[in-house]
Amino acid sequence: MKVFHLSAECYPVAKVGGLADVVGALPKYQNKLGWEASVIMPWYNRSFTREHSFQTVFEGKIILRDRELNFQILKETQNVLGFDLYMVRIDGLLDRENVYGYDDDALQFIAFQVVSLHWMKETKSIPDILHCHDHHTGLVPFMVNHAHDFKELGSQLKTVGTIHNGEYQGWMGWEMVNFLPNFDIANGGLLDWGNIINPMAAMVKCADVFTTVSEGYLQELLTNSGAGLESLYQQESFKSIGIINGIDSEVWNPKTDQMLIANYGATNFVSNKKKNKEELCERYRLNTNLPLISFIGRFATEKGADLLPGIIERMIVERSGDVNFFVLGSGDPTTENRLKELQYRFSGNFAMDLGYNEPLSHIIYAGSDYLLMPSRVEPCGLNQMYSMSYGTIPIVRKTGGLNDTVPDVSEENGRGFQFNDADVNGACWAIHRALDFEADKKASQKLRRQIMKIDFSWEKSTKKYIELYKNLKK
Ligand code: ADP
Ligand code: GLC
Repeated sequence: MKVFHLSAECYPVAKVGGLADVVGALPKYQNKLGWEASVIMPWYNRSFTREHSFQTVFEGKIILRDRELNFQILKETQNVLGFDLYMVRIDGLLDRENVYGYDDDALQFIAFQVVSLHWMKETKSIPDILHCHDHHTGLVPFMVNHAHDFKELGSQLKTVGTIHNGEYQGWMGWEMVNFLPNFDIANGGLLDWGNIINPMAAMVKCADVFTTVSEGYLQELLTNSGAGLESLYQQESFKSIGIINGIDSEVWNPKTDQMLIANYGATNFVSNKKKNKEELCERYRLNTNLPLISFIGRFATEKGADLLPGIIERMIVERSGDVNFFVLGSGDPTTENRLKELQYRFSGNFAMDLGYNEPLSHIIYAGSDYLLMPSRVEPCGLNQMYSMSYGTIPIVRKTGGLNDTVPDVSEENGRGFQFNDADVNGACWAIHRALDFEADKKASQKLRRQIMKIDFSWEKSTKKYIELYKNLKK
């Protein structure tokens, strides 16, 4: 059976966040289980595309409203990712350096979706399942079911839409409808939510099934965290399922991770985990002997990054300087500026690296004692799973995938520290508990050993996706 994953991101080709990690791993694990899984994504002008060889497997032209677009489908020739990778290239539109952030994002992703379908139709490369990830590919289920040009595709395949992040829905004004392939006007309502085109809503309405990246997040979407789509999610919940993400143990494994200073496993982590901490602390002039709490991520409201300055300041003061913090990330300029001030005021206790740095993130997961995730919304969250695999105890807000994967230490089989309120008080309460716990070295080492042994591998979740696909094809 054949599945095509359509996505804006895929690790290591182009990564902004966890979407890339998932799309870079799930197809590989599906192939290991005997499926034929491939990824189709926009072409980007990035190091991966410059450093790998591609073959043009199809060329053509589409017309979107008044724009004539010549495109190529490029296939990576060496199968370096463990699945076939197809990239859609359109000069001037799908040949950019960044994944997001352009004024014509909407057109960029419409073109990507239309070309992908056009190519499948023309070459008769029709999968059993078209698996769409997030709103960037959310118009595909509508198009294969209702666009005159693609209906014959729709009759031969099933669609799955996965919501990785319901906060972003790809809203666009109705004037953009002219860029879409023709469909019966009576079906236009399927694209609409609140008088604008909403690709995420269209995906939920038109896909054969929609999934979320944890069970907890699905419940939140149905009740209070649906970013305006709660009633839609409820209405369509009969075809929904939450499947937790896994982690790619070929990339995220402290025993083999090439980006670490020293490798280690659950039985011998104490000294080698510390070598990573020493490296990190030396590089950023922090005291290795103090507990180190880190944050990695986008400075966005849903991540609670705006809370970091208040948390860091208060904890350093309340613990009289006996705790260190490290932050890797970028985004909201106010948060960046407040953190810069703190770095100056609390040098020696707080350091940061503003920007995106994949190798450094691995050293942080290994070299920190705790990982802080004060997320307001967290559909799954991969950071906490990476951190646990590396023996770093998570401190998380009780939400979505964080609640599903990090039970509090006060519970049976607890794995980390939870807090309820997405504010400075809530987070500081949990951090104080963690630091008090850290004083008992024997207990904290036992917990580290336990969390390193947890099986977060993709195998289990891959089987669930395959089960889902099979049920759709019945
Ligand atoms: P999200 O996709 O919402 O950002 P996830 O927890 O699913 O959150 O995944 C985030 C991924 O991005 C992880 O692989 C994390 O290590 C990585 N990441 C986030 N920010 C950075 C950064 N500044 N530098 C390196 N990696 C980062
Ligand atoms: C999104 C979510 C994150 C999830 C990731 C991968 O970016 O914000 O929680 O882990 O997608 O599914």
